[in-house]
Amino acid sequence: MRDTFVAGSVDPALADGAEPRRSPADRPDFQTVAAARYARRDVLRGSLALAVASLFAPAALRSAIAADAARPAAQSARLGFEPVPVSAADTLVVPKGHRTQVLLPWGEPITGSHPEFTPQNSGSEQAMQMGMHHDGMHFFPIEGEDPHQGSSDDGLLVTNHEYMEPRLLHAAARGREVSAFDVLLREDGSRDPDQVLKEMNAHGVSVVHIKRGDDGDWASIRCRRNRRLTPETPVTIGGPLAGDPRMRTPYSPDGTRARGTLNNCSHGVTPWNTYLACEENWWLYFHHEGDDAPASLARYNVGRFNIWRWHLAAANAGEEAHRYLRFDATPRGDDAASDYRNEAHTFGYVVEFDPFDPDSVPVKRTHLGRFSHEGVIFAPEREGRPVVLYSGDDSPFEYIYKFVSSRPYDAATADGSLLDEGTLYAARFDEDGSGKWLALVPGENGLKAENGFATVADILLNSRGAADIAGATPMDRPEWGAVDPGTGAVYFTLTNNKRRSAEQVDAVNPRKHNHFGQIVRWHEADDDHAATTFSWELFVLAGDEDDSRDLAGEPLTADSRFAMPDGLYFDADRRLWIQTDIADADQNQGPYAPMGNNAMLCADPDTGEIRRFLTGPVGQEITGCVSTPDQTTLFINVQHPGATTSPEDFAAGRSSSRWPDYGDGPPRSATVAITRADGGKIGS
Ligand code: FEO
Ligand code: CA
Ligand code: CA
Repeated sequence: MRDTFVAGSVDPALADGAEPRRSPADRPDFQTVAAARYARRDVLRGSLALAVASLFAPAALRSAIAADAARPAAQSARLGFEPVPVSAADTLVVPKGHRTQVLLPWGEPITGSHPEFTPQNSGSEQAMQMGMHHDGMHFFPIEGEDPHQGSSDDGLLVTNHEYMEPRLLHAAARGREVSAFDVLLREDGSRDPDQVLKEMNAHGVSVVHIKRGDDGDWASIRCRRNRRLTPETPVTIGGPLAGDPRMRTPYSPDGTRARGTLNNCSHGVTPWNTYLACEENWWLYFHHEGDDAPASLARYNVGRFNIWRWHLAAANAGEEAHRYLRFDATPRGDDAASDYRNEAHTFGYVVEFDPFDPDSVPVKRTHLGRFSHEGVIFAPEREGRPVVLYSGDDSPFEYIYKFVSSRPYDAATADGSLLDEGTLYAARFDEDGSGKWLALVPGENGLKAENGFATVADILLNSRGAADIAGATPMDRPEWGAVDPGTGAVYFTLTNNKRRSAEQVDAVNPRKHNHFGQIVRWHEADDDHAATTFSWELFVLAGDEDDSRDLAGEPLTADSRFAMPDGLYFDADRRLWIQTDIADADQNQGPYAPMGNNAMLCADPDTGEIRRFLTGPVGQEITGCVSTPDQTTLFINVQHPGATTSPEDFAAGRSSSRWPDYGDGPPRSATVAITRADGGKIGS
């Protein structure tokens, strides 16, 4: 029987990283007022740019912006490196005096029987190796001389694996004309169970003990704490949706447990030192037939774009069929105990686990909302005050959310249960630079039984639908957030939104067909992160020299231009690291040609100066960003090198990238440790 590779059923727009959603006609339209007044060029150029910047800025910030704009760009003392130029080369470039070391590439054995990496690895072997497509990541120091900081040489590196490329996973793909999103179907249209298992196990999270030796190099070590979380790891449901009838599945008839985590993009770290893996494009994994999906599926496009077709392996899996059938959310039996109609309700959450305990059972914290969670970022914890965190929903025209705990933070007793009781809000950004947090609570902001939101559980299961009714501001794809450790200002990347029309432009999303993205920042009222109002401004409009604006109202330059900001991270010295994710199909093409390969830049939050720090190899995105406590190592991830390889080139054995091995093997996502020859802080 001849197997064939076929394209998954992908919306062409997915190639832009822009996920499908409902029609613009459904939008709250209060922001469209501003659209006609600020044509894109007017926003960006010359003295008018300053006027518009002032309009957009909260009153308290206007004078600072005007002062900055009146003088040449400040030379930031915070940025101590020479910028690197854009690059289209298949290599990693960092500034003079810095060095890089690749570690923990996809396939590196980390646990169990430590199977060596080969193209023939089985599905179960993949579960003992690093997954694919490294994304959000944190370094948990193990011990150290400073008990408040912990070690900068010894820790657990925890890494999300967002998705995977089947043509690289399966030896059977060699010599075939296949794209990065194609899957292998048998002649009868079914899928091979072990291939699907390998694809599943390339997802999830890795926990690896790493140490820095006397030679300055990092190495992974075999440790009982090393662990893989996969889409099959048993988890429990926390918060208001635990036990809800809509969470019942054949696996958990009482709706309190579920299996695994999927499409873990960015992440978070709690004040009590646990890891949060966020579930982003989980909806892409589910099959659903018919037009009668409930809003809790339809509002998330479940079944419309099932690209991997994992459910098709059930036909060949015998007694193991349930492993694959669970990805078919079509009601086929009498009730939720006899089919997987509710399986997709168990995804879309923030998943907490303790990386130090390899037996800890992850918990899906449902009170943080259900959507395409990019990541979560905590406000600095304050004794006796609520715990506050922020999370973006990365799809075009989706929202930024905040959670405020009911119970106050107490360092001695704090744990994940703080995330199970509280209030979820969605953000509204008003034209005058003010903003409001809209509580997603029954009886407030239009949420009531008559429109399907009688209970908190109703609201959480369809957080998007609740935020629609509340009137939150539809954003240009919110990705990572970061909180300035000095000022408490909250920053979010808005990566792009090519679908925004002129009529949909607003003050915080000011460009139609937004190719380049922007970064917004805000201050909560009275510097209280639990406040319900805030003031905001645009920190930077990304783009080329003709279509961008920095904090001073000036265009970006050859040293600072970038597009599609995604990763965002503040180090302890308040350097703001910005990572880019220009979509595969756009890289080095059209408006993105001046940007080169995806890169990492560093910004001074006070002056607004931005400098390019690193450029990556071909076809990848730069993501994952975390310092050791002493800031002498900065870890980043290089995700999907070579994803731009055409099907024809793949068939001929060519790849747009051969990073990091530069041998005959496939390109591999990997972590990079950046250090300095003189042992100094990175970026200083
Ligand atoms: Fe997985 Fe929104 O990037
Ligand atoms: Ca991302
Ligand atoms: Ca992205």
